[in-house]
Amino acid sequence: MRHLMSPLDFSVEELDKLLDLAQDIEAKPEKYAHACAGKKLATLFYEPSTRTRLSHEAAMLNLGGSIMGFSSADSSSAAKGESVSDTIRTISCYADICAMRHPKEGAPMVACQHSSIPVINAGDGGHQHPTQTLTDLLTIRNLKGRLENMTIGLCGDLKFGRTVHSLINALVRYEGIRFVLISPEELRLPEYIRHDVLDRNSIPYEEVVRLEDAMPKLDILYMTRVQKERFFNEEDYVRMKDFYILDREKMKLAPEDMYVLHPLPRVNEISVEVDDDPRAAYFRQVQYGVYVRMALILTLLDIPVDQQS
Ligand code: NCD
Repeated sequence: MRHLMSPLDFSVEELDKLLDLAQDIEAKPEKYAHACAGKKLATLFYEPSTRTRLSHEAAMLNLGGSIMGFSSADSSSAAKGESVSDTIRTISCYADICAMRHPKEGAPMVACQHSSIPVINAGDGGHQHPTQTLTDLLTIRNLKGRLENMTIGLCGDLKFGRTVHSLINALVRYEGIRFVLISPEELRLPEYIRHDVLDRNSIPYEEVVRLEDAMPKLDILYMTRVQKERFFNEEDYVRMKDFYILDREKMKLAPEDMYVLHPLPRVNEISVEVDDDPRAAYFRQVQYGVYVRMALILTLLDIPVDQQS
């Protein structure tokens, strides 16, 4: 049985296959409309979510399956003190596959050790968010036609942003990847990722504070929200929250074929005036998130699909 805890759980070849499947799903959705008939997905969300929970649910519904779950810790027995391992043993009796989001790093890993169904990590604290990474990879591949030879700017809260951590882990396995890490000093990428992931894989990167300095050299600009819920005090958050605001003026510095991605939700870091720019790809990214999660559910449930027909 397979789980998805980190993007590294799939080899590059397996990822390519998964992204191909997602593309086939996009092209021929009717072919997959009953592929999960009789299967149930449980979404166990101990932290707020709009896209990640509902896109997993939409994915299962699009495949002809059913869904169940809870969307906050308060409405589950966690509020009574139940452990993650007891909860997952229970859910294993009800569903065929589950997606779990938890504020504690490693909680989905604990779950998969006690689960008899595949567990998808839908975000664990400031650690990883592998299904967002699958979404990001599919989006980049579709927009640019490749995942290799690319300069990626990661901007905002690189310290707590789990989407950034997972994306870096996944992208360093492709040829010719360079990063420009754009953040205030306090929100720099954690040292363990700089050393263990970037340096160890000899990935070229630079760290800059000003977004304007980075814009002209990017193929992709990945904006992120300052992760309010992970700050120890409100004052620091207030000081940091509007550090970057991408607006029409700054977009003039970017190449014609540089796309802007954002895992969303956005707060102030991308001005709404950018939404009409053809390079703003964050809502297309949301749609890709459904196709890629459909592909993921089929893969983890090991449901055979013939992509030739
Ligand atoms: C992200 C998350 O939850 O980490 N959202 C998402 O799943 N698309 C990003 C964020 O909350 O800032």
